[in-house]
Amino acid sequence: LNIVLLGPPGVGKGTQAKRLSQVLGIPQISTGDMLRAAVAQGTPLGQKARAQMESGGLVSDDVVIGLIRERLQAPDAQTGFLLDGFPRTRAQAEALDEMLAGMGKRLDAVLHLTLEDEEIVRRLSGRRLCPSCGAIFHGVYNPPKAEGICDHCGGELVQRADDQPEVIRERLRVYAEQTEPLVDYYRQLPGYRRISAEGRPEQVEALLLRALKRD
Ligand code: AP5
Ligand code: ZN
Repeated sequence: LNIVLLGPPGVGKGTQAKRLSQVLGIPQISTGDMLRAAVAQGTPLGQKARAQMESGGLVSDDVVIGLIRERLQAPDAQTGFLLDGFPRTRAQAEALDEMLAGMGKRLDAVLHLTLEDEEIVRRLSGRRLCPSCGAIFHGVYNPPKAEGICDHCGGELVQRADDQPEVIRERLRVYAEQTEPLVDYYRQLPGYRRISAEGRPEQVEALLLRALKRD
């Protein structure tokens, strides 16, 4: 299955992508994770992306399209993939269609997660991440067993640089302006589904899995 997870920052794309990736046996491909890794390693690409990421803006289409083009060639992406955080602009969506057509593939599903801004802000403000293994926690909604420590690998949890209130507002603004219009781009696709991200992660996961079965 070739799947796009579409939705605003903090709606739970990463949380659900990790769960679905396990259940479905296909890789999660997150441009946000790839860019953060590049920033952490201080690669030229990371140096280029850093300022935009910290301000809540988008990294240039060329850069992320290049990352995805390369990633989709990898052996583990040949039986399916879950795109998390890509595409985010019309240009990215068109580039993706072109890439897939060139590989004789197409999208099977676009799962669009929705949530009220107020709840998004609550989810992002309390988010804690494990930089070592990528696990995602929340101080209230999904607390680690020991405060500040990753359940899975014992790593020390951190807050993302762009989870500050002003940057969260800017990310929501950029989403509404650049990414939400993609709903019109994908709406006519047979595999397009709009799904509420309210409720516990396991409930949202069940809705997503049901949406995948119904076509
Ligand atoms: P990216 O990393 O993609 O960030 P994002 O889209 O803003 O999404 P988030 O990772 O913030 O949220 P999420 O939906 O994954 O939520 P999560 O599961 O963590 O992008 C970061 C930056 O990189 C961008 O701003 C941009 O600069 C750049 N970038 C990336 N891709 C790009 C692209 N294609 N083009 C250009 N630039 C790009 O959950 C959030 C919190 O809620 C967690 O604490 C979690 O525990 C909790 N939670 C999750 N589900 C639930 C639930 N059901 N109930 C209660 N709590 C929950
Ligand atoms: Zn960890």
